[in-house]
Amino acid sequence: MAPVEAGTREAVIGLRVQPPQQDFVGPAATALADAEHCPGSEPMAILRDGVPIGFYRIERNAAVIAGRDLGPGAFGLRSFFIDAAWQGRGLGTLALEAALADLCRRHAGARLLALTVNCRNHAALALYRGGGFEDSGELYHGGRSGPQHLLLRRLPG
Ligand SMILES: CC(C)(COP(=O)(O)OP(=O)(O)OC[C@H]1O[C@@H](n2cnc3c(N)ncnc32)[C@H](O)[C@@H]1OP(=O)(O)O)[C@@H](O)C(=O)NCCC(=O)NCCS
Repeated sequence: MAPVEAGTREAVIGLRVQPPQQDFVGPAATALADAEHCPGSEPMAILRDGVPIGFYRIERNAAVIAGRDLGPGAFGLRSFFIDAAWQGRGLGTLALEAALADLCRRHAGARLLALTVNCRNHAALALYRGGGFEDSGELYHGGRSGPQHLLLRRLPG
């Protein structure tokens, strides 16, 4: 994992998900441009041998994700994806684990990570549950493709 920088920016913009998955994440170019304009948002590249194969954003204020205050040390994860060519090989699982470790390394005060995931997104739900996220029981209805679960992951802190 590494922050998106000049050397990886174009490759990140070239990453794609499968067409049906576009219901669940927007284009990398849009997410990246938005992250670059939001002071609390950190655009991150998922690297394999130094080459981007995925992307995600860390939000330093989880309220951006959850729609409410989740207390001190609560961060948000959004736009997490693995390029279509690299999916289904366990890399999402490894990347999520590495993203959590990287977050804790960069932000000593991190205690909680929040994300929303579409109720129909079975691959991502399996990924996040396997990564220790728990369903808060709350449904978020602001998504563009239907209701989303709010998932929470306690961090070792
Ligand atoms: C979700 C995503 C990141 C998973 O990446 P990946 O590299 O394919 O993940 P892995 O190979 O590590 O598999 C992770 C889990 O997802 C499951 N999975 C993968 N593809 C699946 C599919 N098409 N249907 C159901 N489950 C699937 C795997 O079985 C595994 O679960 P398990 O550990 O219980 O067996 C990837 O599918 C993706 O980028 N999707 C589009 C973007 C997206 O939806 N992001 C989430 C936004 S909240």
